[in-house]
Amino acid sequence: MASTIVNVSCNVQAIKGLDFQNYVGLKASTNSKLNCLKTAIKALPPRFLVVRASERQDGPIKKMGLSDAECEAAVVAGKVPEAPPVPPKPAAPTGTPVVHSLPLNRRPRRNRKSPVLRAAFQETQLSPANFVYPLFIHEGEEDTPIGAMPGCYRLGWRHGLVEEVGKARDVGVNSVVLFPKIPDALKSSTGDEAFNENGLVPRAIRLLKDKYPDLVIYTDVALDPYSSDGHDGIVREDGVIMNDETVHQLCKQAVSQARAGADVVSPSDMMDGRVGAIRDALDAEGFEHVLIMSYTAKYASAFYGPFREALDSNPRFGDKKTYQMNPANYREALVEVHEDESEGADILLVKPGLPYLDVVRLLRDNSSLPIAAYQVSGEYSMIKAGGVLKMIDEEKVMLESLMCLRRAGADIILTYFALQAAKSLCGEKR
Ligand code: PBG
Repeated sequence: MASTIVNVSCNVQAIKGLDFQNYVGLKASTNSKLNCLKTAIKALPPRFLVVRASERQDGPIKKMGLSDAECEAAVVAGKVPEAPPVPPKPAAPTGTPVVHSLPLNRRPRRNRKSPVLRAAFQETQLSPANFVYPLFIHEGEEDTPIGAMPGCYRLGWRHGLVEEVGKARDVGVNSVVLFPKIPDALKSSTGDEAFNENGLVPRAIRLLKDKYPDLVIYTDVALDPYSSDGHDGIVREDGVIMNDETVHQLCKQAVSQARAGADVVSPSDMMDGRVGAIRDALDAEGFEHVLIMSYTAKYASAFYGPFREALDSNPRFGDKKTYQMNPANYREALVEVHEDESEGADILLVKPGLPYLDVVRLLRDNSSLPIAAYQVSGEYSMIKAGGVLKMIDEEKVMLESLMCLRRAGADIILTYFALQAAKSLCGEKR
């Protein structure tokens, strides 16, 4: 009998549940045996290790020198070997009322009584493979901290970006989505910089693909970082966001990103018909293999505040309510699902994440496509702030919030916590 352990170095975190504090035997940081195993396996040239049960030589019976028949005969003759006694009943504190057991034939706590049982029955797993890491990039050489998002930076595309992606890959996060901060001088009312083949995003994609060919790069398709109005589309004189004209621009943007090497283009603009139009535009240019992740249910949310500060992309006037969805609406998300599916979307996204878990579940139950959830900037910053103020345990709330998004039905999660959470799942301390 042989068992095969494939790619062990990052499998552990996939098994680990939320109650890792009490977890027996799997917490890599405190378990030196596991660390040794990891190191040993890393040192092996082949990608898998075969363990043969028959090679084990530590059978207890051999040591005693008795055959099976002799052991059985001893027991039959009444010479029963010693075993530890039945343990005493643990004492309750004095003053505990003495009561009859409740007549319950179902006590759900039985299935939760030990870490091993809890891990065995855990319905949802969280792994770095589920994360997509959103990264802010700029033209500068230095990494600039983002005030409203502690721990996040506008990364210099040439150095900081490459380093951050390297760190993420080290802990199993091999998917990123790029958000550019565009110089004001390059913004315009029609956002043409969005499809400059030598713009910040295409350059960054080419650099990353050169360095890490197997990295999966998602891009944002929308005009807001490039728009002098800060809107996702072209704004008419009377303030109307022009749909079809915007879609024309978005197609050019998506194609320029695909040409640079993007794997997944992600329209976040909420214009009507953009998924189908982008699919046609990509296919016409030979990018049939490029995926479209559609922001299917993107709500007009105040949770995007810190993001807009990060990119200086606040709408110069008005709000985004004529294209992003009303937070009060649920059923309407299905209209968007049907459109995006029929137009050829490959992944459907819900945004924000945690306040919209019902919508994540709605999409999960109404589509066979992979579902993505975006844990947005406001969600991230609230958890960070709560942690800094010592009002909550940041680490645990982070992992719980991500697990809940998975439980609601998200296959992948776009989260600014991607690196921190992956480190935590791999048992590495920050
Ligand atoms: C813009 C875009 C936004 C986010 C992602 N893409 C902001 C917006 O729609 O105004 C928000 C992400 C976040 O808050 O983390 N197309």
